Amino acid sequence: MTEKVPYSTSNYPDKLIDQFGRQVDYIRLSITDRCDFRCTYCMAEEMTFLPREDVLSLEECARLVKVFVNLGVTKVRITGGEPLVRKNALWLFEEVGKLKKLKELVVTTNGSQLEKQAFSLKQAGVKRVNVSLDSLNSDRFKKITRTGELDKVLRGIQAAKQAGFDNIKLNTVLMRGTNDDEVQSLVDYAIDQEIDISFIEEMPLGEVNHARDSTFVSNAETLKTLQSKYSLVASTESTGGPARYWQVANSKTKIGFISPHSHNFCEACNRVRITCKGELYLCLGQEDKVDLMPLLRNHPNDDRPLIQAIIDSMSIKPKGHDFDLQRAKPAVVRFMSHTGG
Ligand code: 5AD
Ligand code: SF4
Repeated sequence: MTEKVPYSTSNYPDKLIDQFGRQVDYIRLSITDRCDFRCTYCMAEEMTFLPREDVLSLEECARLVKVFVNLGVTKVRITGGEPLVRKNALWLFEEVGKLKKLKELVVTTNGSQLEKQAFSLKQAGVKRVNVSLDSLNSDRFKKITRTGELDKVLRGIQAAKQAGFDNIKLNTVLMRGTNDDEVQSLVDYAIDQEIDISFIEEMPLGEVNHARDSTFVSNAETLKTLQSKYSLVASTESTGGPARYWQVANSKTKIGFISPHSHNFCEACNRVRITCKGELYLCLGQEDKVDLMPLLRNHPNDDRPLIQAIIDSMSIKPKGHDFDLQRAKPAVVRFMSHTGG
């Protein structure tokens, strides 16, 4: 049987453009669903993780990233789960770091392994690191993450500073009654450390009956709190993502606000996500996806079917997401550890 593949590896397009004219030049690849933490907003206490054979091998991840980079992707974020708990994760960072056309390799981590790995990650070519940090109080940190050690994460942040990344950013999910009183202390810590911080509104992902609307803290409220304490200058920087940034006057710190509930960033969306199972999700808030794993496994020596599927996926990238706090259940019942943070 001959396969009908119009593109050969030498003439496929060098850009991924979707049906709304948006160029996809950023992929977020989750390399594991596992994590050493169990953050309440991200995972259930008892998680069943995927069997190893259902997860892309690191070689398959490397192959996939290479294909995307040849299709014009210039920025790759490795996420999880916790990417740095995956055995030999560093090998993948090194492979991806070697790709000439890639401009930015970045990682999102919970920080637990940074003390050990920050330097090697920098060596591999990682430019920027996002570290999740929801509290500076160790008891509370333990409560939110269920298993995490605050001190270890803080040492990880120090290691990242020493390694000399272009940028380190904290990611904080605020939850009313849990850590919403720490807005200022977290910002003070970021200013002290000369790093950035983003506040992320809690997304309605995962457990269906979780009363998210009662713990929801809007970024508008957080911004108001912060404006009364700091002099903030609006930044014009745009990442094509859902973040808006403010510079704290007389400091090196930028404060970002990530509002997954607002729709106003979708028209500039430049990204797609790939789960550790090789599912290509075209939008965080929609179900549209393409399974890339069979294409990788059934055609180990031929990238063309994979390339074709990725090109074709551009026609199903939705215009926007569909999150709604008022709904009886989340728009998408998918844990962040599945789709990737
Ligand atoms: N809402 C918002 N952010 C989430 N994350 C995980 N689950 C959620 C959620 N339900 C974010 C965490 C972490 C990153 C890996 O994903 O803030 O920084
Ligand atoms: Fe792990 Fe990050 Fe999820 Fe917390 S939010 S359980 S650190 S993947």
